[in-house]
Amino acid sequence: MCGIVGYIGTQAATEILLSGLEKLEYRGYDSAGIATVWEGEVNCVRAKGKLHNLRSKLEPVATPAQIGIGHTRWATHGKPEEHNAHPHMDMAMRVAVVQNGIIENYRDLREELKQKGHQFISETDTEVIPHLIAELLKTSSSSSLLEAVRQAVNHLEGAFALAVISADYPDELIAVRQQAPLVIGFGQGEFFCASDTPAIVSHTRAVLSLENGEIARLTPLGVEIYNFAGDRLRKQPRMLNLNPTMVEKQGFKHFMLKEIYEQPGVVRASLEAYFNSDRSSIDTPSPVNLGLPPKLYSDLEQIHIVACGTSWHAALVGKYLIEQLAGISTQVHYASEYRYAPSPLTPNTLIIGVTQSGETADTLAALVMEKERRQDKEPQYQARLLGITNRPESSLGRMVPDMINTLAGIEIGVAATKTFVAQLMAFYALALDLAYLRQTAAKETLEKIINDLHQIPQKMETTLASQESLTEHLAHEFADTQDFIFLGRGINYPIALEGALKLKEISYIHAEGYPAGEMKHGPIALLDAKVPVVAIAVPGNVYEKVLSNSQEAKARDSRLIGVTPVKDGEAAEIFNDLLPVSDVDELLSPILTVVPLQLLAYHIAARRGLDVDQPRNLAKSVTVE
Ligand code: F6R
Repeated sequence: MCGIVGYIGTQAATEILLSGLEKLEYRGYDSAGIATVWEGEVNCVRAKGKLHNLRSKLEPVATPAQIGIGHTRWATHGKPEEHNAHPHMDMAMRVAVVQNGIIENYRDLREELKQKGHQFISETDTEVIPHLIAELLKTSSSSSLLEAVRQAVNHLEGAFALAVISADYPDELIAVRQQAPLVIGFGQGEFFCASDTPAIVSHTRAVLSLENGEIARLTPLGVEIYNFAGDRLRKQPRMLNLNPTMVEKQGFKHFMLKEIYEQPGVVRASLEAYFNSDRSSIDTPSPVNLGLPPKLYSDLEQIHIVACGTSWHAALVGKYLIEQLAGISTQVHYASEYRYAPSPLTPNTLIIGVTQSGETADTLAALVMEKERRQDKEPQYQARLLGITNRPESSLGRMVPDMINTLAGIEIGVAATKTFVAQLMAFYALALDLAYLRQTAAKETLEKIINDLHQIPQKMETTLASQESLTEHLAHEFADTQDFIFLGRGINYPIALEGALKLKEISYIHAEGYPAGEMKHGPIALLDAKVPVVAIAVPGNVYEKVLSNSQEAKARDSRLIGVTPVKDGEAAEIFNDLLPVSDVDELLSPILTVVPLQLLAYHIAARRGLDVDQPRNLAKSVTVE
């Protein structure tokens, strides 16, 4: 949460910083600001709200400065007002700082600094940092900005990434990483830092991700990396495989809509990467190719999955697949709960962390906790950690020894869509691999599932084509609805949760997802003619049950919307409105049934005139607890 960017080089910094911040707005958009050094002064301009407010404020006052830092904020400490916006400065306005993260001991530091005469103007945790750096520059042995920042960060507790400039050091930009992401970009005579690569990819693809406890000194001549003890480190940049056009809307009105339409391509890419191309026989070796070491799977007795939000929903589908296909008992936990109340230790347990960003603080902390509590135990209790992420270069990528990379490409819309489908594909591959190796399903069954999976991209395209106008039409009718209920059972229960989450987060309409059979135990009291019910009904194990549960809702006057295969006559009679998907086996249906729910949420939010890609109060990368 919060995005930071920095530039030093030979071009005017302001526009580079603004365009970088545009690419980072998904990390927060409560306020924005930039600071540059020009003619011996720090020029700092900040504005409440989105970046365009900052842009308008900057137009008359932008300088040709060639060094600067910028910030887009997701408020943690202090309301989203201009005085709390970053960059923050010291009293003499010589040092400017942007921060992503939380300084946990800021109250103590603030008190100490107040006693030395410092006055603060914001309610943020960040403001102590420029004051502390200024104090160190004035009083201690620190003879350079680098040294003052190094000493300052050794006083800070928490998870943070910083960029610092000073009017007195006009050729130096200091960047710090401590448990919040920060990449350094290497151009020709110009250097960048940013919370995420999209902010710099249009300038350079040579990047270096700082590790925790590292400080970078950027000058027009190059980049030096140090640890917090002040030792110089030798590190080389790597080349990014990210095309700048991936972060454009390409004719779609919103990134979210573009990303929904990219899903068939995501499924194709996953099939190509995870499954062997020769499908004529599934004889050894395994038809699945995840590149995971056999020791991860051997004698496996239990799986625990930790995740948040949409990734948690994908994990629930994963649990269903792993338990039903591979017969391994699997529990799914909210990472934020599990980290403080883990299950009793069990032997031969695989712990999977699912996070598209690879930066979700709770998911990372749950994995660290699991690793630490197992490290002194007997071999069978040792942590076996597996990550599932869309960002292999992320903190998760650096923490876990083994990973399944999801292949969604960069996702800009704050509401997760294509990354969810990519996570589902990772779980299909994992469950099938486990089932194959443990011989828990007949070869013919596995072969059929794999063949059917290969039909999904085309079925998804058909579903997308038929849904656009249907969901738009329904959105028109439901734009002012206040409550929605989503029902599903079995493998489609997580899809009901996901449909409700998508609607809540981008349209601000209250929505709940329930297992259809649970309605009669309480929530059915909510139903009347004003509360539409969306039910996911796919022929299979629980089809008739979902249809009966839907009838119960209809009997309470709810308008019933059915997400169900095209050809089903029985369903057509029960539902008031249909959002048909292509014919599909129940086991694979979540990859299709989620599509109309994403489109419904999208069109309702767009109809309500809301900012679909950047819904209020949210951020794409949740790097705070
Ligand atoms: C919903 C959404 C969030 C994320 C959650 C976890 O559309 O995007 O619920 O799924 O914040 O994020 P990751 O997967 O990055 O750990």
